[in-house]
Amino acid sequence: MKKEKRYKAIDKRLITEGQKIEFSLYETNVEHTVMSLFLQSETVIDGDNKVKLREIEHLYIDEEEYDSYQKYAQGHLQTIATSSEIAFTEKASIVYKKASEVMDELFTNPDALGNIEKSQDIVDGFVSLILQEESTIASIMQIAAHDYYTHTHSINVSVYTLSLAKFIGLKDKDLEDIGMSSMLHDLGKSKVDWEIINKNGKLTDDECMQMKKHPAAGYDIALKMGITDKRILSGIRSHHEKLDGNGYPDGLKGNQISLFARIIAVCDVFDALTTKRTYKDAMSSFTAIKIMKDQMGEHLDRRIIDGLVKMVGGNK
Ligand SMILES: [Fe+2]
Repeated sequence: MKKEKRYKAIDKRLITEGQKIEFSLYETNVEHTVMSLFLQSETVIDGDNKVKLREIEHLYIDEEEYDSYQKYAQGHLQTIATSSEIAFTEKASIVYKKASEVMDELFTNPDALGNIEKSQDIVDGFVSLILQEESTIASIMQIAAHDYYTHTHSINVSVYTLSLAKFIGLKDKDLEDIGMSSMLHDLGKSKVDWEIINKNGKLTDDECMQMKKHPAAGYDIALKMGITDKRILSGIRSHHEKLDGNGYPDGLKGNQISLFARIIAVCDVFDALTTKRTYKDAMSSFTAIKIMKDQMGEHLDRRIIDGLVKMVGGNK
């Protein structure tokens, strides 16, 4: 018996002119009852195709060709992120959406092969975005999701970290590396019980202990992924260390905590405070920074908080 095709909706904005697709594209009729072939695999997308694409509401691929589409989409993120024809917020939202899909895969299957390349493509996309003139913290905050999911949290922390790192003068390879580190900083949560991660109330002592394992677990996953850069690894392992030595997992103090970990820690807290959770509302960035300055000076690096203040304040 012939197997029935299953289709998956895709983001049509990722289909780029001048590029060959190695998967077929499908569209539906107005009633969404019949699926028909729109473009055959191996087609090079030209201007005409692009015009027709604009008129199509939803675009689909055969589920069996999903891997091929994923590869294509990741490979084109850079082209999209640097395109002068797409508005900044549009580009950013495309990269953000793709990043959510990749983080989904990463959290579901942290030990899979190819995770490092996937993360790198996303980080490269974000770095290209952050380096553009239109990239202000206001535009970045607009794109960041304000409802909490572990994956969106990772992406938010990553875009804040990249913005802040750029603001305080990090460049090129350092930006790429801190982008990677912040994107993966909470990956160890994939090894913590789902119910603990999503619990609404206060965690019990035992649950808290489980939760506190995530930085070291993330470090182990990163090592297995093939990450060898000490700074990238330190951001993952040490983002819950506190300057006064009361953090975890290693109880590091002051300068023992790497710059990467200190920047990520500030952005981690900033996103946690400015994001809505089931049990709390989102704070404004102003209130969040005030709390960080007034109450967390023993834990977080004040100079980095000051950088955040200037960055957020300068773009109001
Ligand atoms: Fe964390």
